[in-house]
Amino acid sequence: MTQSRLGTALITGASSGIGAVYAERLARRGHDLILVARNRDRLNALAKRLSDETGRNIEVVAADLSDRADLARVEERLKTDASISLLVNNAGVGATQPLLESNVDKLEDLLTLNVNVLMRLTYAVVPGFVARGGGTLINIASIVGIAPELLNGVYGGSKAFVLAFSQSLRHELADKNVRVQAVLPGATATLVSSSRRAVHATSSSSSPGIRAHTKHEPAGAVRFQPSARSPAISRSRRAW
Ligand SMILES: NC(=O)c1ccc[n+]([C@@H]2O[C@H](COP(=O)([O-])OP(=O)(O)OC[C@H]3O[C@@H](n4cnc5c(N)ncnc54)[C@H](OP(=O)(O)O)[C@@H]3O)[C@@H](O)[C@H]2O)c1
Repeated sequence: MTQSRLGTALITGASSGIGAVYAERLARRGHDLILVARNRDRLNALAKRLSDETGRNIEVVAADLSDRADLARVEERLKTDASISLLVNNAGVGATQPLLESNVDKLEDLLTLNVNVLMRLTYAVVPGFVARGGGTLINIASIVGIAPELLNGVYGGSKAFVLAFSQSLRHELADKNVRVQAVLPGATATLVSSSRRAVHATSSSSSPGIRAHTKHEPAGAVRFQPSARSPAISRSRRAW
């Protein structure tokens, strides 16, 4: 297989949901891929299917990004693999319970993955992008980053960090040919969201003023529109 002229996209949380859809879309556009998540079997199945269908080079890296040693392996790859032209920081977990009923240790785990891991992986990849004269960073935030009252506020706060961090980086890297995009999905039917659909539905009907596109978003922010063909996402809803 020849190397992609578009370079390699590394996608975290690629074993299901939104990350798996990014994998599918990017492979079909001609990117080689590095798929990262914990579930090796799911990653292998996706890699084989996409490789068969697109002819792209697709590598699997099984890693628990909340584990420092596993995270360091992925950081090292981002620092040293000059073929990487795109990072999709997608791996994340949600929280469904109200703040005062939540387990604080689980919320700390959430912050580790949604905030610290995303920040560390960004620091690992961006200097190479700058040195090579370009690259693309896509950070998956959430609509609750600008409407934290809709769900657990620690989750919302973690996504507000992703948005603010992305906006600041976008500004800082504007003249370096490094594109930074924050994505603010609304409710999207995936594994992680299946248990909180009722919360999203209730919230949306009581929050008519909130829209996915607002003046607070960076210019590159987009709404996520899953493919109807994706087996990973069977249906989607625009809750906001
Ligand atoms: N679905 C929604 O309604 C919605 C709305 C707004 C924003 N988002 C955001 O979109 C992103 C993707 O969520 P999703 O809905 O697609 O959820 P999902 O289907 O559960 O996917 C989450 C992905 O993250 C991976 N992951 C979880 N913990 C990990 C860890 N410790 N190390 C490595 N990988 C890990 C999971 O794979 P393994 O289990 O194999 O590790 C999986 O591939 C998240 O950042 C989420 O906050 C989702």
